[in-house]
Amino acid sequence: MSAVSLWRNARLATLAGDMPWGLVDNGALVVEGERIVWAGADDRIPADYLRRASAEHQLAGTLVTPGLVDCHTHLVYGGQRAHEFEQRLLGASYEDIARAGGGIRSTVAATRSASDESLYQSARQRALALMAEGVTTLEAKSGYGLSLHDEARCLAVVRRLGRELPLSTRSTCLAAHALPPEFEGRADDYISAVCAWLPELHAQGLVDAVDAFCERIGFTPAQTRRVFEAARALGLPVKLHAEQLSDQGGAALAAEFKALSCDHLEHLSDAGVRAMAASGTVAVLLPGAYYFLRETKLPPLAALRAAGVPLALSTDHNPGTSPTLSLLLMINMACTLFRLTPEEAVRGATQHGARALGLADRGTLAAGQRADFVVWALDHPNELAYWFGHNPCRRVVVAGEERA
Ligand code: NIG
Ligand code: FE
Repeated sequence: MSAVSLWRNARLATLAGDMPWGLVDNGALVVEGERIVWAGADDRIPADYLRRASAEHQLAGTLVTPGLVDCHTHLVYGGQRAHEFEQRLLGASYEDIARAGGGIRSTVAATRSASDESLYQSARQRALALMAEGVTTLEAKSGYGLSLHDEARCLAVVRRLGRELPLSTRSTCLAAHALPPEFEGRADDYISAVCAWLPELHAQGLVDAVDAFCERIGFTPAQTRRVFEAARALGLPVKLHAEQLSDQGGAALAAEFKALSCDHLEHLSDAGVRAMAASGTVAVLLPGAYYFLRETKLPPLAALRAAGVPLALSTDHNPGTSPTLSLLLMINMACTLFRLTPEEAVRGATQHGARALGLADRGTLAAGQRADFVVWALDHPNELAYWFGHNPCRRVVVAGEERA
């Protein structure tokens, strides 16, 4: 039998059940091994657990939430693109820069020339920054290697992060992110190559899901479909960068493949919303990219809500469009820019973020869930959306173990 520990007298935002926030004042969690085995009012902890507990943490009314889930990042890359930010301030658009050979392609060159170790160390520093704000599950995509060898190196970095840090990671293959220079003018051939790499990457145990960038400056819906078919043949779930800069009908295509999520979605149509609702696909909102690209078209939030599409929230950390390392700031921006309620935003960075990764064992505080949770120097969970540029994270527990 594993050791039992008690976390007592907390204000629990369980996000479970139908009550606002799933709030339990003067609540307690009982943790056994990697799992929460009981959650509820402190004065109702079953006697057996009180007897068996080998550790007891008194929280004096402070707030406890599920661990944060950052469900969409491009964490592994070489270099940075601060100079493109300056070019955009002088008037160039993101698409102009991409078409002129900058953008994703410049990060591809820097990634290819970086050593395995330097890719790992830079990704590790970024992961530590996210973790310092309570992130316990992190998704990271490839997509800056764009060759079999370099995509494998980037995905291996994601696996190594999960092995060496107190963090769960999920790795997504985004080889269909941009056309590498050696395939110039041959996008269909590149997609054929990607489809041939997927079984190899999967056989190496490097892939949890497959993503693509369906966009004017990315790949067409027909090319995206071929990537999805290759993923389906391997039993891998899909996700999609959809309708970020224009409406390509990507969300409806992804829904046809029962995608876990469609991400960005500023230009999503009503038909796209309906297709996502019917397939149970999560909408991942990325206010960092919206802000940094100074977009003005909002994702269709009222329609997504009305259709009952779950809303997740993520940093989209990447060097081109969202160089942020703060999921808490995204919670704030989802409220200020997208008008989410604080509760929607926090659920987006926990419960629905987990769902966007196909993970049913986390994102709420309830018996049977993984013991991933955060103790905050806050009184109420709405403060997670209110303060910004401030980190109230005090203690983090991952799979039942408190981080040092
Ligand atoms: O999620 N949209 C495509 N991919 C990234 C941007 C990547 C880059 O510019 O390096 C995104 O915004
Ligand atoms: Fe992205």
